[in-house]
Amino acid sequence: MNSKITIAIDGPAASGKSTVGEQVANRLGFLFFDTGIMYRAVTLAVLQRGIDPKLEDAVSQLAQTVQIDILPPRIFDGRKADVLLDGKDVTWDVRSREVEANVSVVSSYKGVRDAMTEQQRRIGMRGNVVMVGRDIGTVVFPNADLKIYLEASAEERARRRYQELLHRGVSAEYEQILASTRQRDEIDKNRTIAPLRPADDATILMTDDVPVEEVVETIMTLIRENGLVK
Ligand code: DC
Repeated sequence: MNSKITIAIDGPAASGKSTVGEQVANRLGFLFFDTGIMYRAVTLAVLQRGIDPKLEDAVSQLAQTVQIDILPPRIFDGRKADVLLDGKDVTWDVRSREVEANVSVVSSYKGVRDAMTEQQRRIGMRGNVVMVGRDIGTVVFPNADLKIYLEASAEERARRRYQELLHRGVSAEYEQILASTRQRDEIDKNRTIAPLRPADDATILMTDDVPVEEVVETIMTLIRENGLVK
C-alpha cells in the first residue's frame, strides 16, 4: 500500500464532485478538500475590495496576499466546512450569485492559479486526500493515484444547483442557472491556463440519472481495484 494516497476528482460546475468526493473521503478516512472554495474566496475578496475583476494584475496581487482558511465546521447550519477570509467567516458569502458570476474570470488568471496551486499542493502533501476541482488530475497532482472526471449534462447540473438553492431557502430561477452554468463551462473549458478537461488517464463517469450512492460505489470499486485500499 502507498504511504500517501491522492485521489483527484475533477469536473464541471455542479457535476457532484463535492458531494461524491466528501462521501468517498469519509469512507476512506481521508482529508476532503474542495479547491473551488479557494477560487470563490479570492473572488469574494476582489468584490469586497471594489477591485474590477477584469484587472488581472490587481486581482493576481490580491490572490497572493489574501489568507484563506478552510476548517472543520464549528457552526452546524448545513455547512461542510468553515471558510475564513482573512479570519472572517465567509462560508455562505462565497456561494453568492455575484461570486458565481465572476469566479470563472478570476480563476482564469495565471497569478491567481499559481498562488492557489501552490497552497493546494502543500495541503495535499500533508496526507491521504480526496481533492476536487477542475485541474487536480491535470495540473495540481498529475501523479495522483486515481483520477476521476465527473460529467453530467448542463441541464442536469442546473437542475441540481436549482434544487440545492431552493433547499437552502434561496430564491432561484432555473433558466438563469442554466445560462450561468453554460457560461461558466465555456470559460472554464476555454481558458489558456489549466482548462477544464479530463486527464488522459482519468476515468470518466457520466452521472446523469445516476444516484450519488452509485457514483460513490463505482469510485470505491476503482480505488480497491487499483490496490489503493483493501
Ligand atoms: O467547483 P466550484 O463551482 O465551487 O468552482 C468555482 C469556480 O472555481 C469554477 O467556475 C472554476 C474555478 N475552479 C478552478 O478554476 N480550478 C479548480 N481547481 C477549482 C475551481
